[in-house]
Amino acid sequence: MNDPTVLSAEDIWKSYGDGDDSLSILRGASVRISAGEVVSVMGPSGSGKSTFLHVCGVLDPPDRGRVVVGGVDVWSVGESRRAAMRNRYIGFIFQFHHLLEEFTLLENVAMPAMLAGEPRKLALEKAAELMEEVGLQDRADHFPSESSGGERQRAAVARALILSPAVVLADEPTGNLDAPNSKVIEDLMLELAEKRKQAFLVATHDLELAAKAHRRLVLENGRLVS
Ligand SMILES: Nc1ncnc2c1ncn2[C@@H]1O[C@H](COP(=O)(O)OP(=O)(O)O)[C@@H](O)[C@H]1O
Ligand SMILES: [Mg+2]
Repeated sequence: MNDPTVLSAEDIWKSYGDGDDSLSILRGASVRISAGEVVSVMGPSGSGKSTFLHVCGVLDPPDRGRVVVGGVDVWSVGESRRAAMRNRYIGFIFQFHHLLEEFTLLENVAMPAMLAGEPRKLALEKAAELMEEVGLQDRADHFPSESSGGERQRAAVARALILSPAVVLADEPTGNLDAPNSKVIEDLMLELAEKRKQAFLVATHDLELAAKAHRRLVLENGRLVS
């Protein structure tokens, strides 16, 4: 009843292509993430970090293995339930912010809540709170094109949290930022982990980010090792 686990990926296998051209990327990768925990995944380019995050995030199916979120093996249920679970339990941050250019930062942060059917007023209120938490309270009405790279990525962090996901999957979240802005994003994730008990699984090349994580994993020969 008191299991703090928010996501567990068990013995994940995945390859691309078939026959002689088959590329075996994940070979029994496993991880268990608890509430409030920041776990980093390092590994050379092409080692399968993004592939692993996509499997955990219910975006791309594994060949074998289980991903359990909210007590459910997400890859064993039907398509529509799976999509609902992705929206409900998983937040995403990517290397590029993927904000919608025709909406303000505040509206972008509120968007997932509005798409989930929350009343516009409530969604915007929640978004305003998160904007404050990520230090963007004075930027609510700015459009992405009027914002710096660091501001856009902070908005992307806030957007990932608006539906209070069980876990946020971040794929190279500082990969497109300079050192000072990277530090802001790193510290922000750590702070949100502490304050909101938010869990993060972060794929990164950034040694400083990995150093700050509560737990560091490396993807090696298709498996996660500490
Ligand atoms: N959709 C795909 N089809 C075929 N090969 C892929 C696909 N996605 C990734 N790969 C290959 O899988 C390997 C791992 O990719 P990726 O998970 O993106 O690694 P990383 O994020 O660690 O750089 C790479 O060799 C990549 O070329
Ligand atoms: Mg990648």
